[in-house]
Amino acid sequence: MFRQFGTLLLSAIAVSAIDIHVSSTGGNASSPHMYGLMFEDINHSGDGGIYAELIQNRAFQGSVPFPSTIYPWEPVGGAVLALQNTSVPLSKALPTSINVSGKGKIGISNPGWWGIDVKKQKYTGSFWTMGAYKGKFSLSLHSNLTHQVFANTVLPSKSKSGKWTEHTFELEPREAAPNSNNTFTIQFDCSGESINFNLISLFPPTYKNRPNGNRPELMEALKALNPTFLRMPGGNNLEGDVSRYPWRWNETLGPLKDRPGRPGTWSYQNTDGLGLLEYFHWCEDLEVEPILGVWAGMFLGTEEGHILSAEALAPWVQDTLNELEFILGDVNTTYGALRASLGHPEPFYLRYVEVGNEDNLNNGGPSYSNYRFPMFYNAITAAYPNLTIISSTGDFTALGGSGSSASWTDYHIYSRPDNLVSRFGQFDKVSREHKTVVGEYAVIQENKKNVSAVEWDLPKYKNPVWSGAVAEAVWTMGAERNGDAVMGLAYAPGFQNLNSYQWAPDLISFTANPAQTVLSVSYRVIELFGSNTHKETVPAVSNSSFGPAYWVAGTNGPSKYVFKTAIYNSTANVPFNVKFDGIAAGTKGKLTVLSAPDGLSVNALNKEDGTGVVVETTEKRVQDLTAKDGGVFGFELANYEVAVLTT
Ligand SMILES: *[C@@H]1O[C@H](CO)[C@@H](O)[C@H](O)[C@H]1NC(C)=O
Ligand SMILES: *[C@@H]1O[C@H](CO)[C@@H](O)[C@H](O)[C@H]1NC(C)=O
Ligand SMILES: *[C@@H]1O[C@H](CO)[C@@H](O)[C@H](O)[C@H]1NC(C)=O
Ligand SMILES: *[C@@H]1O[C@H](CO)[C@@H](O)[C@H](O)[C@H]1NC(C)=O
Ligand SMILES: *[C@@H]1O[C@H](CO)[C@@H](O)[C@H](O)[C@H]1NC(C)=O
Ligand SMILES: *[C@@H]1O[C@H](CO)[C@@H](O)[C@H](O)[C@H]1NC(C)=O
Ligand SMILES: *[C@@H]1O[C@H](CO)[C@@H](O)[C@H](O)[C@H]1NC(C)=O
Ligand SMILES: *[C@@H]1O[C@H](CO)[C@@H](O)[C@H](O)[C@H]1NC(C)=O
Ligand SMILES: *[C@@H]1O[C@H](CO)[C@@H](O)[C@H](O)[C@H]1NC(C)=O
Ligand SMILES: *[C@@H]1O[C@H](CO)[C@@H](O)[C@H](O)[C@H]1NC(C)=O
Ligand SMILES: *[C@@H]1O[C@H](CO)[C@@H](O)[C@H](O)[C@H]1NC(C)=O
Ligand SMILES: *[C@@H]1O[C@H](CO)[C@@H](O)[C@H](O)[C@H]1NC(C)=O
Repeated sequence: MFRQFGTLLLSAIAVSAIDIHVSSTGGNASSPHMYGLMFEDINHSGDGGIYAELIQNRAFQGSVPFPSTIYPWEPVGGAVLALQNTSVPLSKALPTSINVSGKGKIGISNPGWWGIDVKKQKYTGSFWTMGAYKGKFSLSLHSNLTHQVFANTVLPSKSKSGKWTEHTFELEPREAAPNSNNTFTIQFDCSGESINFNLISLFPPTYKNRPNGNRPELMEALKALNPTFLRMPGGNNLEGDVSRYPWRWNETLGPLKDRPGRPGTWSYQNTDGLGLLEYFHWCEDLEVEPILGVWAGMFLGTEEGHILSAEALAPWVQDTLNELEFILGDVNTTYGALRASLGHPEPFYLRYVEVGNEDNLNNGGPSYSNYRFPMFYNAITAAYPNLTIISSTGDFTALGGSGSSASWTDYHIYSRPDNLVSRFGQFDKVSREHKTVVGEYAVIQENKKNVSAVEWDLPKYKNPVWSGAVAEAVWTMGAERNGDAVMGLAYAPGFQNLNSYQWAPDLISFTANPAQTVLSVSYRVIELFGSNTHKETVPAVSNSSFGPAYWVAGTNGPSKYVFKTAIYNSTANVPFNVKFDGIAAGTKGKLTVLSAPDGLSVNALNKEDGTGVVVETTEKRVQDLTAKDGGVFGFELANYEVAVLTT
């Protein structure tokens, strides 16, 4: 729900006014890329999430921790299904296929990632087969509830014995399905022979029509935040769980049949269809700049051997240099040529490289500052002096360089509303030389008497709540005030697949059905703040101290002010008189206010309806204001309101 209100509804009694005088100059620089995104392939945010592939388990990929499985494929017409490593594999990367045998019209069907969205649009598909068969393949999308067929096509077989052959097809539904409980089916007429299938793929139209691309509506939801950067490919996703398989850039490239996939950090085999090139396409398509994470020699867990020695780390430093050559090298370099061969002769745009993820955890701090970070910092800056290197510890224990080559750090915080608000001034005194980027933040637990830190063994919020979103607004304004020290902010995690998730709250929740996407209350705050950026912060002097009102002011040139404010923990409405230097009486201003619909009862948002479906509950109103004498705008905000005034 996202309603517009024409009038201000006030219930509480007003307290004494806050006078604020905003100067036109004299502040700190604002970060050119304050609001950004963080991506972690947490339970089906990538596969089954933003990566648009509709078929779940398309290539029977497996590994020691996650052996390949037939699930969720099902037999059709009495087919007998078996996984096989045939003596002739489809590829080295994809050795396992499904053997389908039986008699009559048989086949296999796939339910997608908890459903398949069927619309009147063109779906493109492909699959590989091995086995002598001269008949036809019949492909369809149909309801698994009513068995209504929405699209089908028939394809002559090119299948051969002892050799893999690719088939490609299109499906164009005649009408949209009423829900996403649909399945994809391949059938053939079997007279006793058998066929092996592998790499069975089906894509809907993707964002900007990228082959092997992303889901349009989830990309549009990201775009609407006006993001400026994307931190990728994770977080914990980089590191590899106890299973010790870090993310490997060089195994996520090229044709899908050459990608083995990898045992991911979140308990399943990743297809790696969303690979390094796709992450860069994602950045290009959203026009955001990448912050590239590289593995820094620490696996998750704390047991012996989870941190590499300097000697064992050296090949990984070289591997990172190879990766950077792939991204930045010209076409005459080894890896630049590889990039060109994959269709991108121009180097990618990259200015920021983050070494690892949260390397202060799991006893990683000492080795990180002693040798792990310096090895990467020295090698990378020697080869690429213009790259900014970011440490992952969130403090300044691992540092490199000074001046324009000074390293930055990535600070993460998961918190409670009161605690985050109390940290409004956190960045007032941090380093200006070694800058901070906030690669992950979120309010995840409710306030608790005498407890300020998050208790990780206790439940977290199921969804972002409004009091948390207001606290996030307050805290991000504290960062914006220090835009010369804090270079970016990214809420985390970005995505939640409502059918399978391991972490809540999340910014955007989704299912296979695009109509069920939920943009959280935290999303609404970031959307408002990210759409109202400024080039420079300016002094905003008040006769009131911060709390319950918090604010930041900035400009985008003469008379173009952006004033942000949020009210947290007030017992009454708060009247403002904000005077902007250089603004004449009669100048128009626009005040956009976000609030919870039911005022002070702010802890049930987003909320679930009776069927367990998450619904949005943020409200937004826009007021037109006119400056009084002296360039003063008067307005009033209620408790737990977040507002932006622009002139
Ligand atoms: C295929 O080979 C892999 C790797 O050797 C093995 O783990 C897996 O069990 C094999 N699968 C089948 C169905 O034989
Ligand atoms: C597939 O399974 C059938 C039935 O078990 C078997 O006859 C056939 O040889 C298998 N195909 C391959 C390629 O091994
Ligand atoms: C179709 O629905 C039936 C239950 O009605 C379920 O058992 C089956 O797993 C579903 N199959 C697919 C492919 O979704
Ligand atoms: C349709 O699919 C959704 C999600 O996959 C599931 O929760 C729901 O129960 C299904 N509906 C029916 C009627 O099977
Ligand atoms: C990818 O790089 C790693 C580390 O350098 C190496 O061990 C591995 O063999 C490479 N994989 C491929 C497919 O080249
Ligand atoms: C690559 O090498 C060729 C041949 O030496 C040269 O003509 C070309 O300018 C080089 N390209 C780049 C981008 O350096
Ligand atoms: C590094 O930055 C400087 C100054 O912006 C620029 O002149 C130079 O070309 C850059 N070097 C590389 C290798 O990108
Ligand atoms: C909000 O109000 C409660 C109750 O008065 C108080 O305990 C808490 O410290 C306040 N929080 C902030 C951030 O002002
Ligand atoms: C909370 O802290 C106050 C002051 O330190 C103390 O008096 C009180 O007993 C504490 N309450 C609880 C529930 O621990
Ligand atoms: C995450 O996904 C994997 C694979 O689908 C599944 O085994 C695991 O249970 C999921 N976790 C949760 C909490 O749903
Ligand atoms: C600029 O940063 C300093 C902290 O170094 C802070 O005290 C000041 O309020 C900031 N100025 C503005 C205009 O936000
Ligand atoms: C700020 O000044 C205004 C008068 O301009 C006054 O009404 C108000 O009470 C003052 N607020 C505080 C918190 O002192």
